[in-house]
Amino acid sequence: MPPFPYTRRDFLANASAGVALAAFSLDSQAAEPLAETPPKLSLTSSFTTVHEPKPLPFNPAKLDGISEKLIRSHWENNYSGAVKALNTVKQRLAVALADADTPPFLYNDLKREHLTRTGSVVLHELYFHNLGGSGKVGETLQQALAEAFGSYEAWEKEFRRVGAGLGGGSGWVVLGYNLHTGLLENYWLADHLHSSAATLPILVLDMYEHAYQMDYGASATQYVDAFFRNVQWDVAAARLEKARKIQAI
Ligand SMILES: [Fe+2]
Repeated sequence: MPPFPYTRRDFLANASAGVALAAFSLDSQAAEPLAETPPKLSLTSSFTTVHEPKPLPFNPAKLDGISEKLIRSHWENNYSGAVKALNTVKQRLAVALADADTPPFLYNDLKREHLTRTGSVVLHELYFHNLGGSGKVGETLQQALAEAFGSYEAWEKEFRRVGAGLGGGSGWVVLGYNLHTGLLENYWLADHLHSSAATLPILVLDMYEHAYQMDYGASATQYVDAFFRNVQWDVAAARLEKARKIQAI
């Protein structure tokens, strides 16, 4: 990073090169140079937050039926790749926002990528964090799912059916708590952009082929079996407890 005085041109060059944006104001229209000292921060954290991959919350060698090689590849290539892409998109958004000549339709190309990458990062983190368990559902979820679906078994049957329907393609299955309807439901997400409105994910299943192809080829059903053997139900129960404390919207 060049020393101060720091010009607007320096800012744009560094932002596009991936330098952290935290110290600089995008709103400034002041003549160059901007200032001898960094101006007061006016960027929101939406633009300045640099995301870091979260470590796996379990020993990847200890899953039942999902290999360490697959999990490490999934974490390193797909998830961490999404984190890097999200950071890049945010840097480009900051630069584009500062440029009054950026056409809105081009700005929205970046906003579409922002939505896609955010969905990928968040859903992957929720997925990894509801893995690494015994697969034994606890009383809280068992009761909640029985109330919503008639029985735990009925819930699992539908969840698996949605997963089977995504086999060979891509998408997510989400057991979610809808803050508007007050219902626990299984949702089909065709991609990272899809999500049910006003819904907090309780249990997330990655049905992209990269989540199972290395271990099971095209057999998505075997992968879903393995997923259920490794669900960390305590995490799902904690999510539901938090969700229920939020008032309906
Ligand atoms: Fe994935």
